[in-house]
Amino acid sequence: MGAQVHGAQKFDQAKRADIKFSEEAMKTVELIISRYPQGKQKSALLPVLHVAQAEFGGWLSPEVMDYVASVLNIKPIEVFEVASFYTMFNLKPVGKCVLEVCQTSSCWLNGAEDIVKYIEKKLNIKVGETTKDGMFTLKVAECLGSCGTAPMLQCGASFHENLTYEKVDAIIDNYKAEGRLRSYTDLDYKNTL
Ligand code: FES
Repeated sequence: MGAQVHGAQKFDQAKRADIKFSEEAMKTVELIISRYPQGKQKSALLPVLHVAQAEFGGWLSPEVMDYVASVLNIKPIEVFEVASFYTMFNLKPVGKCVLEVCQTSSCWLNGAEDIVKYIEKKLNIKVGETTKDGMFTLKVAECLGSCGTAPMLQCGASFHENLTYEKVDAIIDNYKAEGRLRSYTDLDYKNTL
């Protein structure tokens, strides 16, 4: 193993030993790597991190980042630098469903603030927090490119647009009933990453 990743979370060697992509995820990772010239596997880092985040509970622990580094044959710090730069990657545990409410101009003008307050009250959490049952984390995000259907929120690969309080109730109920982790790779990521 190379230099360990330093972040807010502590590195645990025992946990690291248990981390391995499932066969299906590994196939996807190999497919992603094959799209780049030989020796340029570092270019595959972003899509591979998305697979890793979906595979290992919705966040990238130091052990997972170290594992990704070993798969791509790069340094753990190179993984951490990228993972800590992009807000789509979570460096601490999150709920199965991360609700990201856009708070930029169009959404803000169309009531995003009220939607955030409504979700906070409904889930009994503040922005940045996770519900006690581990089901939901609430975040705010900058423009998600759906300004014409503001206000909106993203959860994994799904966009929910033209939000009203009733729609928010339905979205939360559906996710609760489904009970599974939602990720950015929920679409057919073999074709989209
Ligand atoms: S301002 Fe919210 S999607 Fe663009």
